[in-house]
Order: sequence, then C-alpha cells, then structure tokens
Amino acid sequence: MKSEENVDPTIFTIFGGAGDLTWRKLVPALFSISHYRSMPSHLAIIAVDRVDLTDDQLRKRLREGVTKFSNHVVVDDDEWEQFARHIHYLKGDFKSIETYKNLKLQLRELEKEWEGGVDKIYYMATPPAMFGEIPKYLGESELSHEKHRSRIVVEKPIGYDLDSARQLNKIFTDSFRESQIFRIDHYLGKETVQNILAFRFANPLFEPLWNRGYVDYITITVAEALGIGHRGEYYDKSGALRDMIQNHLMQLLCLVAMEPMVSFDADEIRNKKADVLHSVRPISHDDVGKYVVRGQYGSGQICGQDVVGYHKEMGVSPDSQTETFVAMRLFVDNWRWQDVPFYLRTGKRLPQATSEIVIHFRSVPHRSFPKESSINWQSAGLKISIHPSEEITLRFQAKEPGPKVLLRPVDMKFNYRESFKGPHPEAYETLLWDLILNDATQFMRSDQVEAAWRILTPILEVWENNKPGIFPNYTAGTWGPEAAEKLIVQHGHRWMLPGLR
Ligand code: BG6
Repeated sequence: MKSEENVDPTIFTIFGGAGDLTWRKLVPALFSISHYRSMPSHLAIIAVDRVDLTDDQLRKRLREGVTKFSNHVVVDDDEWEQFARHIHYLKGDFKSIETYKNLKLQLRELEKEWEGGVDKIYYMATPPAMFGEIPKYLGESELSHEKHRSRIVVEKPIGYDLDSARQLNKIFTDSFRESQIFRIDHYLGKETVQNILAFRFANPLFEPLWNRGYVDYITITVAEALGIGHRGEYYDKSGALRDMIQNHLMQLLCLVAMEPMVSFDADEIRNKKADVLHSVRPISHDDVGKYVVRGQYGSGQICGQDVVGYHKEMGVSPDSQTETFVAMRLFVDNWRWQDVPFYLRTGKRLPQATSEIVIHFRSVPHRSFPKESSINWQSAGLKISIHPSEEITLRFQAKEPGPKVLLRPVDMKFNYRESFKGPHPEAYETLLWDLILNDATQFMRSDQVEAAWRILTPILEVWENNKPGIFPNYTAGTWGPEAAEKLIVQHGHRWMLPGLR
C-alpha cells in the first residue's frame, strides 16, 4: 500500500472503455478522485474497445457520463479539459495479440516520457466472457510481468459456480500473482458497509454482546424496487443467487460475523472474512427446500405505477425459470455463532429499495414488569441501514412518562449525513482510490470467492434439476413469496421492515 500524498504515476487501462460501466461508474469516479484528492503526478487513462472512436468523441461521451452520474461534482469546463487530456482511445479486439502489442507500445512511450516507475492497472469492464481471455493475452504480451507495478481488476460475476470460478481464478493466477488481482464488489466501497468494522471494532460497547449469548438471530436484507432494466440477457442467465447473494450478501455476512482483526492489513481482514465463509454450515441437496426459498415477480405496482412481470422484461425468455428473489437461513458453525440463524434475503421489484442488517438481541431472562405494562414488548434490536438510509438505530424498551409503568420500544439513532457533512464518496470512488494506492483490503480474494460458491453450488444444482414450476410466485410491489415469510416466522423470528417495526 502506498501513501496518499505520493501516488506513483499511473496508467489506467480500461478494457471496455467505450462501454456502460466506464461511462456510468469508472470515469465519474476517477473524475471525482481528481477533484477531491491528489491524483498521481502523471496519469493516463487508456480506453480500449472495438468500436471506431476518436479521442475527442470518447471524451465528449465520457463528459456526458460524468455530468449525469457524478452525484456531488459540478463539471466545470476548465476542470474537465484538464482531466480529459489524460484520456486516450485505443481501438482493438480483446482477443487479438495485436491489441496488446499496441497497448504495450503506448505504455512504453508514456514510461519513457515520465521517466520513472509507473503503475499499470488493467480494468476488465467487459462482458464476463472476456474475463478468461484478457489475462491470458496480458500474460503472453508480458504486460503482467512487473509484479509490483501491474494489477488486474475484475468485476463480478467471477464464475458461474464453484468449478467455473476455480477455472477463472486459475487463468488469473497463470499470468498474475494473487496480490496483483483485485476482485471488485462495489458493496465493499459503500461508506456504511465500511463503517461496520469501525462500529464493531473501534467501540468496546457492542462487541461483548455480539455473540450467541446475546444475539437471537440476524437478518440481512438487500431489497430493490427496480426490476432488471436493460440487463435481461445477463440477468436471465444469472438470477438473484448469483447476482446478489454470492457476492454482496455474503460480504455483508462476513463483516457482521467475522472475528476482530489484529491489524488493518488486507490479508488479515480477508483471512477473518474467509473464516466466516468456511464456517457456514453446508446445505445438503436434501435440505435446500428447507433452508432456501426462491421467487420470481409477476406484474404489479411499485409506488402506484404498473410494472410488468419478469417474463415480459426485455431479453428474458417468456418461460424463464430464473429467480429474482432469494431468502435463506444459514448457520455459522463456530464458537461465537453456533446455532444463531442468519436470514438473508434479496429481491427485485420489492416495495422499496432498502439494504439493512438487523441484529435481534435475546429477550431478558425474566420480565419483572406487570403484564399489562409491556403490551408492545420487543427485544432490543440494532439496525444498520446501508442504503438509502444511512443510519444505525438502536431499539430498546423505555418507560412511557406517566404514573403507570408502561413500556414501549424507542429508537436511538446515528445518521451519517447529519453527523458528517460534506461530500460522501461513492463506492467506486473509494475502491478506485484504493486500487491506485494498491490497497487490497476491500477487494475479494480467490479463496473467499470460492468459499462463497461452495456454499451456494448445492442450491444451484438442486434448482437446476428441479424447476420451480410455480413462477411467478410473488406480485411486484410485495415482499416476495409467502414461503419467505414462513421460512422465518416458523422459528418465531421476523424480517423487520421497513423501519424496525
Ligand atoms: C449489482 C447487481 O451488483 O448490484 C444489480 O448486478 C443490483 O442487479 C446492484 O441492482 C445493486 O447495487 P446498489 O448499489 O444499487 O444497491
């Protein structure tokens, strides 16, 4: 990891440089970095893609992206001109060695001009089919050979199941060392997600309670009101388990369940997270129906607007069996969490977008208050809201003012935006900055990715062989199929949504 003040000259090569991710996320994030922080003394962004484009055409399009998607930067002409000078376009086929030879020439020229060590970042912002190709060519053209200077970035999905993830990881490590491979999960760049470690391990208050002695169960929800937009073709082959649970929800599970790290070292933190995934109790093929629920939305209404069912979405097969909703019950078999259920759920076209984790504490061992005083009795709960609210809320029992002893739950709240004024970086901004600093803490290591697939592969296998038959099984604008409610309620537990009710 490098110091923030002295960032080495950097060349950011983006494969898929004319694509959507570059337009919506990567360049707006890089622009924000250059606005708020000190960019490397020398910087170049080389966008590689197959279409015909001039540097100026590309810059114009990217400026539109920055204007549209940067939440907190106003793009001023001079500032944009300064930034855009660093952007260059290189036309090339990702599967032709010529492209890499041309890239190499361009890199060498910049290196000569800048006189000194230059970091090279190769970002695969391409369709997943290219993830197994680009690293081979980078290796073959010796662009991966500077072990301390070059790094490769890969977006999800990393594989389709355990075997394909292993194959992909093997392709990466044939050309790059593990320390050069940065696997992005944008959830890890969210401030509220990063704060989970600070909340747990920078305060002595909650950690003594953060275990099976005091925690009854934990719920993790990532709900989206949106459907699949224009991503039907990708999504229909993926589904919610691969698209959300394998990465974002598993990472949230790790942050909530992991043991305290000894230092803020990338591998130390990733070791602790990997331990969680290795401790997840395997779900056998026979038990999939007992522990996991899948769903798919039919037509309905979201915020008073009619929306079509999944089958009618663009790019989706009319008899698709792909799940747009998953709820599951997991156990982490270790000293801290033995027999504490973790309920995970995610879905598209739910009534509202909300990502949150709720720690449900055990009830008091004995209720000494008169029965009628605690009609609204609720055990204490701690809610970590990730998005769109950015809050931590502690719910506990309080006595209502008055002569009678009447108890009811009240909330104590920390709100991010109220406590910290000023710009809050977007997830990609944080992660790209870490990447420039060569800090892998918030990136996934191969063993984590494989461990997550190991948990989910039996589910995928059972689903592959047993079609659901009853899809769609929830109406857009509801909280998913009834079975998801049953999965939790039958154990005396509940999803607490929205707003800790
Ligand atoms: C992406 C998924 O990784 O995360 C999308 O592919 C999903 O399907 C998105 O919509 C959710 O991210 P966020 O940051 O909007 O919660």
